[in-house]
Amino acid sequence: MARIYIKTYGCQMNERDSEQVAQMLMERGHSITAREEEADVVLLNTCSVRDLAEQKALGKMGMLRALSHDRPIVYGFLGCMAQSRGSTLLKEMPHLDLVVGTQKFHRVADHVDQLIERKRTARFDDVRFSIVDVDEEASSQSTIRDHVLAERQVTAFVSVMQGCNMHCTFCIVPYTRGHERSRPVQEIVDEVKVLVDKGIKEVTLLGQIVNLYGRHEFVALDGKSPFVQLLEALQVVDGLERIRFTSPHPIGFRNDLIETFGRLPKLVEHIHLPLQSGSNRILKAMHRTYTAEKFLALVDRIRAVTPNMAITTDIIVGFPGETDDDYARTRQLADQIGFDNAFIFKYSRRQGTPAAGMDHQLPDSVKEARNHDLLELVNSWAKRRCEPFIGSDVEILCEGPSKTNQARLMGRTRGNKIVVFEGAPRHIGALMKIRIARSTGFSLYGEPVG
Ligand code: 5AD
Repeated sequence: MARIYIKTYGCQMNERDSEQVAQMLMERGHSITAREEEADVVLLNTCSVRDLAEQKALGKMGMLRALSHDRPIVYGFLGCMAQSRGSTLLKEMPHLDLVVGTQKFHRVADHVDQLIERKRTARFDDVRFSIVDVDEEASSQSTIRDHVLAERQVTAFVSVMQGCNMHCTFCIVPYTRGHERSRPVQEIVDEVKVLVDKGIKEVTLLGQIVNLYGRHEFVALDGKSPFVQLLEALQVVDGLERIRFTSPHPIGFRNDLIETFGRLPKLVEHIHLPLQSGSNRILKAMHRTYTAEKFLALVDRIRAVTPNMAITTDIIVGFPGETDDDYARTRQLADQIGFDNAFIFKYSRRQGTPAAGMDHQLPDSVKEARNHDLLELVNSWAKRRCEPFIGSDVEILCEGPSKTNQARLMGRTRGNKIVVFEGAPRHIGALMKIRIARSTGFSLYGEPVG
């Protein structure tokens, strides 16, 4: 049986896909290793959203080639870059054996077994044998459903839909993940029940455009969108304590969803709501189909129902044609809203997307300067959003040891703030109160109450 090294780049959905691949390989008796030097099979699950992510995966695959001098190793690229580049990857990387796209993760174990067998029986004069599997597959959205849970794992991701039809002009996702396809509510509820039986207390529902879940498959009932229906179905799962989701689109974030936060106690007070730009001219060129005013009005409506809602965002700086004035509008809107946190991205030209062909691509120096400036602003807001917690008691779900200091425990507030404290093993998995003593600007530190 083979030892398999899987490395994942990019978003939570990629993490989730890797988990499915790992589960299927383990089911066949293979083992997963965190040590690349002892691996018989190397799988890199890739991200295409920015060039840097692609370059990292390509560089890693190149380096890993050195492993294969003393024994045959199976090398594979999975996921988004595998989907968008397909068999051209084999030409660039002659040692590659396997390329599997985003709708075929459930086939990886078959392909790996075939390649292992082939290598075992191979002779020097064998022609090179490789597998490229990047086709579309009906119902592939329902193939990401099995989990590999660590001991005492408390939180889990659940993929509820795949793909995106929004076609933002900067974004490669519609080309790598395909069109929107959603899983039935009952199938998702069943998956969550299994997770809860195994000790999971919090789920994060994943979709590229999660609030539009089910819009092609299912109908609104009593004015409630399929996504709200899904949230209601999860609210009544016994033993589930918290529900999160990511990422929604401002379009389709309607009142039925906003009101749900006031109604469903398990739905936590955090929304990751990508803004992308605060300039109407740039939003239009991005094909984001809302205006800065509409985004602000949406934030106001959300805060009217849930005053303590934590709101985080994604912003792109340096989109083609973005002037100083456009950037100033983004900065101004970010300051007006005061996000709890934000990911800032320098625009990255993605081949095949409409924005890649636009005039007035900006030099990296401009992107870098705007990135730096905006980071300072969003970091200062992140800090300000932490301050009110100092001296107060907050409820957290304790997830386990802190990543930065294994001797401490960490958990998250409902608003997704990380809280680090000294506790005992029995706290893992508990909803508990922590008295916050201080903040670093991003994380909170405190002690258990009582
Ligand atoms: N360049 C830079 N950032 C991008 N994103 C998506 N495509 C690009 C790109 N071409 C960012 C968006 C999105 C996040 C996941 O990645 O902000 O919300």
